[in-house]
Amino acid sequence: MAANKVATKKFGILTAGGDCPGLNAAIRGVCRASHDRYDMEIIGIANGFRGLIYEDTRKLKPEDFTGILTRGGTILGSSREKPFGPADKDEVASDKVSAIKETYQKLELDCIVLLGGNGTNTTGFKLAREGLNVIGLPKTIDNDIVGTDMTFGFDSALAIGTEAIDRLHSTAQSHSRVIVIELMGHKAGWLALYAGVAGGGDVILIPEIPYKIDEIASHLEKRARSGKTFSIVVAAEGALSVKEAQMDKKERKKYRMENGPSAAYRIAREIAEATEMETRATVLGYVQRGGVPSASDRVLATSLGVAAAELLAKGKYGRMVTLNGNEIASADLSVPEGKVKNVPEDHYMLDTARAVGTCLGN
Ligand code: F6P
Repeated sequence: MAANKVATKKFGILTAGGDCPGLNAAIRGVCRASHDRYDMEIIGIANGFRGLIYEDTRKLKPEDFTGILTRGGTILGSSREKPFGPADKDEVASDKVSAIKETYQKLELDCIVLLGGNGTNTTGFKLAREGLNVIGLPKTIDNDIVGTDMTFGFDSALAIGTEAIDRLHSTAQSHSRVIVIELMGHKAGWLALYAGVAGGGDVILIPEIPYKIDEIASHLEKRARSGKTFSIVVAAEGALSVKEAQMDKKERKKYRMENGPSAAYRIAREIAEATEMETRATVLGYVQRGGVPSASDRVLATSLGVAAAELLAKGKYGRMVTLNGNEIASADLSVPEGKVKNVPEDHYMLDTARAVGTCLGN
């Protein structure tokens, strides 16, 4: 396509929300394709929406997006700045939104490319409604964005989580202990479920399935009676008991303040009380978001990045690039807006886990 037929001449690019492996690979994909194929001008926006609000931007040249494919984190920086306010509050067009619009106009951008999770793509949808051209890319280790089969970052975090579970096996066995490992995933249990199956977790607890401690205890005791001297419990950070599931948000917050904010420590204590087994807790935390992207994440992030450049060239704004089966496609930004992709109760992985003897806590 000749440069003069390209819909986008100049665009801004930012990364927002929690970082993940593959962000730089995606930035490189967008920038290489838009620059080398279509000669677009690229403005890097620092630290998510904060860079748009406070006009912290710089022109990106090819040397800026060379050599970054394998690098963890994001060369642009990120933040959890939410220009429309928290998701659970009524939407108010704030000064921050006006500032974003001013920066957009001042820089004469034709579009902003957002690399982000649910919150970021939702903000993208709202900015599109305010008249800005926006294209989203789905990133997060949580894999919980509606509209895409997979987000980049998930595969890398899955490998890290699985390796951690593998390593816990030997120490749990040496000491005849139950070890509870907490993986990220506040609202959705994809990471805990996949890493739990990949690592052979004996119990997997995800936010979608509130657990009964008695079920977990009887599963662990049965294992012990059959001669298994140790057990691994894989819990998503958002795992919750049936009792917690019945509480409203305020009550649950209070309960967690009193009983410990970390799911792993709460569950480990409940298991110790219910079984008298020696129990330990490990929280893997930010290790899951750091370091180099896996080969699969590099491929996915690069492909989605290139697809975003193609949307820019065609002027197809208001969309998020997606993976649909084996195809790279795109969806309207209203598709992910305000939603979380949870593990459905009929997902085959739940049956897979149960079929190999894993307790899901219910
Ligand atoms: O990136 C998403 C996520 O990993 C969630 O699983 C987790 O709840 C959250 O980030 C924590 O991130 P932060 O502490 O950076 O806000």
